[in-house]
Amino acid sequence: MAIRGRNPNPIFLSLALFSLLSIASAKVFFEERFDDGWENKWVKSEWKKDESMAGEWNYTSGKWHGDPNDKGIQTSEDYRFYAISAEFPEFSNKDKTLVFQFTVKHEQKLDCGGGYMKLLSGEVDQKKFGGDTPYSIMFGPDICGYTTKKVHAILTRDGKNHLIKKDVPCETDQLSHVYTFILKPDATYSILIDNVEKQTGSLYSDWDILPPKTIKDPEAKKPEDWDEKEYIPDPEDKKPEGYDDIPKEIPDPDAKKPEDWDDEEDGEWTAPTIANPEYKGPWKPKKIKNPNYKGKWKAPMIDNPEFKDDPEIYVFPDLKYVGIELWQVKSGTLFDNVLICDDPEYAKQVVEETWAKYKDAEKAAFDEAEKKREEEESKDDPVDSDVEDEDDADADVAEAEEDSEAKLESETIKEADSDDEEDKHDEL
Ligand SMILES: *[C@@H]1O[C@H](CO)[C@@H](O)[C@H](O)[C@H]1NC(C)=O
Repeated sequence: MAIRGRNPNPIFLSLALFSLLSIASAKVFFEERFDDGWENKWVKSEWKKDESMAGEWNYTSGKWHGDPNDKGIQTSEDYRFYAISAEFPEFSNKDKTLVFQFTVKHEQKLDCGGGYMKLLSGEVDQKKFGGDTPYSIMFGPDICGYTTKKVHAILTRDGKNHLIKKDVPCETDQLSHVYTFILKPDATYSILIDNVEKQTGSLYSDWDILPPKTIKDPEAKKPEDWDEKEYIPDPEDKKPEGYDDIPKEIPDPDAKKPEDWDDEEDGEWTAPTIANPEYKGPWKPKKIKNPNYKGKWKAPMIDNPEFKDDPEIYVFPDLKYVGIELWQVKSGTLFDNVLICDDPEYAKQVVEETWAKYKDAEKAAFDEAEKKREEEESKDDPVDSDVEDEDDADADVAEAEEDSEAKLESETIKEADSDDEEDKHDEL
């Protein structure tokens, strides 16, 4: 055993030093904790203003929080569109890790709506930023009804939006959560919620940005003698003697000729028939495991001739804006702690300094608020309130699902390969 204090492990030392250095050298492209002065950095879009459908942002810590001074921006009007964005010095993530992270809290018990943010590239007229403005990355939670509760991770290439093919469930409660998207130069990615990794993999396999590297050999054919039947009739099994003589129906042994039956007038009495309990249907030999069973035939995989590698599959060369663009049926979504940097360790540290510090106090404040609400409700209307609430909620969901369909249709108009019906269906 090593003697403590005398011979410090050199590997440990250099690791510690390395992580210190790496945090010290983290490059932060954008960071917004929504302190005083945030309004100078963010531009509220005029999108939907002429239709009076543009919602107001509320600068607040919300109804429950860990610290009243820890404010963010919250959607404050129902049935409204929201669009706001901030600019940062343009950069490319080539050869760099890209970290996109923010905190979001749905105080309104979200039935249907998004809590995602976008990264935009090139030149954007921020006053006109809206649902049709092209974006590079869209990331964050999306909830609608009972079926959609997922984290979006959409990457845009050549004007096409590519949805992640893996399902990443999002948080659905009314508390703050941190969503982190990490994109690495080796074309791998991670999605974290509250500093816990929820999904990880490769851009090649988890999006359809490029055609797949390998495909099933279209020339391959199942060999004639390939036996896919797992069970066969037992050739040894024989039909028992007299099996076919068992009738399907028999006269009911319990039936009795009625007292007033008159053979002359009513004809000869016959008992009604019932199903024969001895009858087992047409004879079938029993099944046995097929000794020649080879399993289901699969075509061998070959290199896809359509595949052309793009080592820059992960690169967004001119990232320049971060924005929130949402449609909300029920308002109350609060955003905070937006971070764009090149260092997952630094991002982790920010989560520790912000969300992790406040989460217990926020939960306690929420529980307290819930208790009060329930007390109020039972005072107001001790009998009916629950029933009515539920009806209301269902109506809201139905309406919201309709609205969201219209909205997401525009969201996915430029969507990826149309042969990926499953994803498309999921989205629409
Ligand atoms: C802003 O949020 C606070 C806290 O939830 C709330 O009391 C206030 O009414 C909100 N203001 C608007 C304009 O919605």
